[in-house]
Amino acid sequence: MTDRRPMIAGNWKMNLSLLGAASLVKAIREGIQDQDSVDVLVAPPFTALSVVKGLIGDTKILLCAQNMHWESSGAYTGEISPAMLSEAGCSHVILGHSERRSLFKETDEMIDLKANAAVELGLIPIVCIGETLEEREAGETFEVLKTQLTGSLHNFVNNSMLPHSTILAYEPVWAIGTGRTASPEQAQEVHQFLRECLTENFDAGTAQRIRILYGGSVKPDNIKDLISKPDIDGALVGGASLSADSFVPIIRLGG
Ligand code: PGA
Repeated sequence: MTDRRPMIAGNWKMNLSLLGAASLVKAIREGIQDQDSVDVLVAPPFTALSVVKGLIGDTKILLCAQNMHWESSGAYTGEISPAMLSEAGCSHVILGHSERRSLFKETDEMIDLKANAAVELGLIPIVCIGETLEEREAGETFEVLKTQLTGSLHNFVNNSMLPHSTILAYEPVWAIGTGRTASPEQAQEVHQFLRECLTENFDAGTAQRIRILYGGSVKPDNIKDLISKPDIDGALVGGASLSADSFVPIIRLGG
């Protein structure tokens, strides 16, 4: 048994108009009024952060950005700094999502810089890692994940200290947006392995406190089995977070 509080996070990616974002957050707010056992987080596109923040109001919904640069300001056209995200009301930031890694060539080194910058600014990083289908089929899953985990948290590993609020997200690339979910057993096996890696690189107390979310085709009908596993502490949801009709039942953990 652990006292890790479940978290359901919605990654809206590059979707929704301002109006769409506003109506989605309103519907989520209404749909979860009576629930207080799960942390709920939404990650809208940058341009919708302020609007969504306003509508979140004094509810407990957490606001998250989908990416950031590690520098605090400067000549980085098209980028956004941790301080800007804080100012916009974000408490969390997703780092190293597989789409950032594969489409925008983000490396573990860059994610490490970002994770440090986030923590310095008081933002909580949600660090994503995950293997591709080829890597899984070649039997390299654990090796790849270990490299990504220690590389993306390199500076923390060097200091043997990781803030306990840090969140990890295991997102097998082959399960993202494909409708193909890792089975609860496959996900649990990886989550348990990641917790062992955290113990090795930090300490058992840290490993027990860090929340590890699963991501990849999470839906209302599979969340219950996933969350029933001891090392799965919640979900990072893409497609199904774009509608309250699917996101709210996920927040209710399929119950
Ligand atoms: P999906 O995306 O739920 O649409 O598979 C998950 C993610 O990319 O975080």
